[in-house]
Amino acid sequence: MLLLLFVAVPVLWVLLFRYRRRRMYELASKIPDGGLELPVIGAAHKFIGTTEDIMSSLKEFSYCAMNNGGLIRGWLGHILYFVATDPVDLEMVLKTCLEKDDLHRFLRNIIGYGGIFAPVPIWRPRRKILLPAFSPKIVDSFVPVFVDQSRKLAEKLEERAGENKFSAWPFISSYTLDSVCETALGVKINAQGNDKSPFLVELNSILQLACERIFHLWLQPDWLYKLFPQHKKHEHSVKALHSFTNDVIEMKRKEIQKEKDAQVEADHQYDLSNYSTKTFLDLLIHFSGGEKGYSNLELREEILTLTIAATDTSATAVGYTLKMLAKYPDIQQKVLQELDEVFGDSDRLFEKEDLMKLKYLERVVKETLRLFPPVPFIIRKVEEEVSLPSGRVLPAGSGVVVTIWGAHRDPHYWGPDAEQFDPDRFLPERFDLKHPCSYMPFSNGPRNCVGYQYALMSIKIALTSVLRSCRVVPDMEPSATPQIRVKLDIMMKAVDGYEIALERRK
Ligand code: HEM
Repeated sequence: MLLLLFVAVPVLWVLLFRYRRRRMYELASKIPDGGLELPVIGAAHKFIGTTEDIMSSLKEFSYCAMNNGGLIRGWLGHILYFVATDPVDLEMVLKTCLEKDDLHRFLRNIIGYGGIFAPVPIWRPRRKILLPAFSPKIVDSFVPVFVDQSRKLAEKLEERAGENKFSAWPFISSYTLDSVCETALGVKINAQGNDKSPFLVELNSILQLACERIFHLWLQPDWLYKLFPQHKKHEHSVKALHSFTNDVIEMKRKEIQKEKDAQVEADHQYDLSNYSTKTFLDLLIHFSGGEKGYSNLELREEILTLTIAATDTSATAVGYTLKMLAKYPDIQQKVLQELDEVFGDSDRLFEKEDLMKLKYLERVVKETLRLFPPVPFIIRKVEEEVSLPSGRVLPAGSGVVVTIWGAHRDPHYWGPDAEQFDPDRFLPERFDLKHPCSYMPFSNGPRNCVGYQYALMSIKIALTSVLRSCRVVPDMEPSATPQIRVKLDIMMKAVDGYEIALERRK
């Protein structure tokens, strides 16, 4: 009798579970699966291994979706995911499924409810406050910071000119971190001058730990994680990052109070011309309503979110571009020629107006972001059933992997040479974007990247500074299709740490 109970209860439970989800099973069965699905675990075995293996599986799924009308399904145990590549369907997903996937919860104890992964009711008002801080006028005001920091980057890299190949990652990511800390917090942390800079060390450590947790199931439950040594390191890094940001916020509050005490009321009017010296922290305090606006906790969440969203993304873009220039020396030559036309032999500082003149460099960056998007996948939750324009239906309770990687390489939208590196496909006379979601390194829809102008500016200024003093030593790719081993470390990064060799130009 007892044995019967032991068998009957679980069986009944499973039957009830499946009955409640019958609509999900019915809709899922109409979509092709993405390859070998095993009983119980589904496609979970495809996500075992290194972060390079995981990236390879997701690429495989993307190609499989492209060959199956832009949509396939895959079960991870009892959780249903779709992998989508068709831009028309993607537009609908990005517009209607605004909630982020639960995997992001491992970043939550760092950035709390900072905009990027926050639940919709929290994200919506925060996005409204954040958007004006990214107006073109404000972003333009950051040019001097990028110029100053990128000159340091160029100097550091020039010291390595003439040596064998080395990893450019520590140099580039310190550049982006220095720039972000200066524009967001108004603090010069000097990561470029000191690779032991506490903020740099703790930020790298926390991102690595979060990534490890996302991909290792046994590290996911909180109670189990506490038993691993990583938990202690994690707590230590979170504490250090929080206390640093808290201190900066408190200092800023005091500074504002001091200014207020010293000024007459009229000076406190909303005045755009003042923004030339403002940081994101100043702007968020201002746009959220000053003293009655964001609390210190909310400010910390938003500022740390910006720091994480801005640092590695822009750095990977610079790294991939340098690798492309090594692989295609003729393309590099055209970039250098354009730089010579704009700057000649002079050592003059970069000016905002130069950005407009560097049209070829811009095409090279855009094409690099097409083939190597720093954020190759976005995962959204399907909270209510979604009917896609293609006629397929996504059931409530599933998740969708929006594959930017796939959309960017779909021959249907990019032609038979979709995998080839050809910056001139972005020439105005050739560029014919068949659908806005066929090119979206910065995503699309209401939750797209707010920092895309900031990012493009920072990337172009960094590349200009480096390439005015050094050329990348050719490491030629035998075909027009670039091959770089990539891994999924929250962002998509090169396995070799962006190894390049440099030689001085002058
Ligand atoms: C090459 C560099 C960058 C790339 C490729 C990139 C890409 C992205 C993508 C794909 C998303 C959207 C995710 C989604 O739709 O679910 C996103 C969101 C976001 N990005 Fe970026 N990003 C870059 C640089 C930056 C920079 C420099 C900043 C800030 C200074 C920034 C701030 C943000 C924020 C705040 C969000 C969240 C927007 C929201 O949910 O409302 N990003 N980024």
